[in-house]
Amino acid sequence: MKITKAVFPVAGLGTRFLPATKAQPKEMLPLVDKPIIQYAVEEAVEAGLDLMVLVTGKGKQSIENHFDTSFELEEALEKKGKTQVLEEIRKISSLGKFVYVRQQQPPLGLGHAVLMAKEIVGNEYFAVFLPDDVMDCPVACMKQMVEVHQKTSAAIIAAEKTDALGQERYGILKVEPTDNPRLHRIVDIVEKPGAQNAPSDLAVMGRYILPPEIFEKIEQTGEGAIGEIQLTDAIKSLLGEKEFFAYEYEGERHDAGEVSGYLKATIKLGLKRSDISEDLKKFIDEIAS
Ligand code: G1P
Repeated sequence: MKITKAVFPVAGLGTRFLPATKAQPKEMLPLVDKPIIQYAVEEAVEAGLDLMVLVTGKGKQSIENHFDTSFELEEALEKKGKTQVLEEIRKISSLGKFVYVRQQQPPLGLGHAVLMAKEIVGNEYFAVFLPDDVMDCPVACMKQMVEVHQKTSAAIIAAEKTDALGQERYGILKVEPTDNPRLHRIVDIVEKPGAQNAPSDLAVMGRYILPPEIFEKIEQTGEGAIGEIQLTDAIKSLLGEKEFFAYEYEGERHDAGEVSGYLKATIKLGLKRSDISEDLKKFIDEIAS
């Protein structure tokens, strides 16, 4: 069955970005000139998904406004003859259908946030996007994953090789090889194990294609790593019943969820923009010397 639903957990408090996130969602911080959340939604559209389910929380209204039509703005741009930017603005509100579910505060973890989408997702495979992970791929990362899902009919988790720091920060996978060097059968998964206990150097990145049975497992999952209800723990308990593959996508991922990763992503994506890249490159060369 075709995957159509994309779940975006966006209820987090953004504590790594304080004070910038005291009164605005971290998902609305700009990367070059687009808010972080828009990159993930555009990736979902490229993957053929059309129902965007955003799990929001207190103080996240500007995300809803961003994906809504802004008549006043459109009218003003039209009057000024700014047709190119008008086109861009109109495109944002037609990216898909948007549904908002509110997670009450304080957020109890990624697993709990995903559980909020249970009734909307229903009984079908669905995609999860963690917007902090900004994927810069020749073919949209989720599109690559959807293709793998169509071939395997299994759950798919985006994966990338990591280092000791990553073994502390990410979900880490234990895998077995398949015929496809990018695709591995998952036999175990553990959240933030640290280098000492990590079963491998293959880390979970923030893109998942999950079966609906995950919801029941989340409901049975208690507090895990860092005192939160972890999606990783629910996946672990589903491994014996459902097939899960790790997919090493083609492309690069930026961690826009912490300050230095965010700055690096801004520079990398800025350098790809033909209208500013020359100026930016000149500036980087100047300060580097
Ligand atoms: C979450 C997941 C983790 C995954 C990471 C990817 O962690 O729990 O398994 O590796 O996203 O970015 P968080 O960044 O919310 O701590």
